Amino acid sequence: MIFSALSPLLRLAPVQELTRDALLKLDAETAHLATIKALRLGLGPEQTQADPPELRTTLCGLELSNPVGMAAGFDKNAEVARPLALMGFGMVEIGTVTPRPQAGNPKPRLFRLPEGEGVINRMGFNNEGHQAVFARLKDARVPAALGINIGANKDSPDFVADYVLGVQRFADLADYLTVNISSPNTPGLRDLQSDEALRRLLGEVLQARAKSRVRVPVFLKIAPDLDEAALDAIAKVVLATDLDGLIVSNTTLSRDTVQGQSNASEAGGLSGKPLFNRATQRLAQTRQRVGDLPIIGVGGIHSPQTALAKFEAGANAVQLYSALVFGGLDLLDRIKQGLAAAVRAQGKTNISELVGTRVEHWAGDATTP
Ligand code: FNR
Repeated sequence: MIFSALSPLLRLAPVQELTRDALLKLDAETAHLATIKALRLGLGPEQTQADPPELRTTLCGLELSNPVGMAAGFDKNAEVARPLALMGFGMVEIGTVTPRPQAGNPKPRLFRLPEGEGVINRMGFNNEGHQAVFARLKDARVPAALGINIGANKDSPDFVADYVLGVQRFADLADYLTVNISSPNTPGLRDLQSDEALRRLLGEVLQARAKSRVRVPVFLKIAPDLDEAALDAIAKVVLATDLDGLIVSNTTLSRDTVQGQSNASEAGGLSGKPLFNRATQRLAQTRQRVGDLPIIGVGGIHSPQTALAKFEAGANAVQLYSALVFGGLDLLDRIKQGLAAAVRAQGKTNISELVGTRVEHWAGDATTP
């Protein structure tokens, strides 16, 4: 999608389709690396029009010109945060970054499920580590909210200590931090979502934040595979702390929605369209439990309608990733224009007025916006 704007000529719709098709013929990780390289070379598209005023959003004190972000995992090493911001994302979340560099799982580890526009990944937190990412970001000028998503090394003797190191390293640099305990590809990581472990993790992370020079907002990113009892427990722990918000959700281990599709039996986390209903239901169920705590809704957004559904289910902002693998150059712009149009169509002036207007609908078994 990003390649399709290598030059003004390539902005022509038929050429975009050709380049997108060419990228889709490559192995998924090769296509991803090529896209990052193109962006690094400054070949990405740049937003030319200002964002619609209806989309201006304040999130934990951050002023966003629009509430649509790039989700973590696309730019693990903070190589292209600025080009992504110039494309028109209101926030760019880099990472997950671990204290030490890590190779991740053996390849292949990234798979497309073309029939249903899903993606399965078992990357395993491949990244260059704190030091390299810090060096790259310290002078970066990113004209959007910069999120830094922190994690733990697979072989760490103490996962919690790794998150504390992440806060210490990045608190001064990030506009917000995300504590990611929901990747399915680091054995044992998701256990940090359980009651006692979460209490200790958030206690230590927020203590480290309290000692930092600035009070950076901290989000916790959770899995979509938690049942309602687990959400009850998380909400209880979170509301007893001064955590700033939640990100709902990461990828799923479920294969319910992709039975029989090619690559569906690959191990890893599923994202994209087949995740939409599950992630949106968890988002609404989380909203029912946390009052007006800020939530970023992620998982399966692939159109203006599905982005709008996230707000109605209780999100204050949204992120996406997988749909960009299949979508066209104009997806981000179409989502933003569609959201602004929905605000106006409902007689409102700002997207924030649509937050949580259909929580009950999405918390049940809804399957359509
Ligand atoms: C991810 N995601 C992710 N999330 C995270 O917190 N840290 C990470 O390192 C990664 N890595 C990653 C790699 C790949 C290849 C994918 C597809 C996804 C999860 C991502 O941020 C998001 O939560 C889910 O993908 C759901 O959103 P989409 O993709 O359905 O819009």
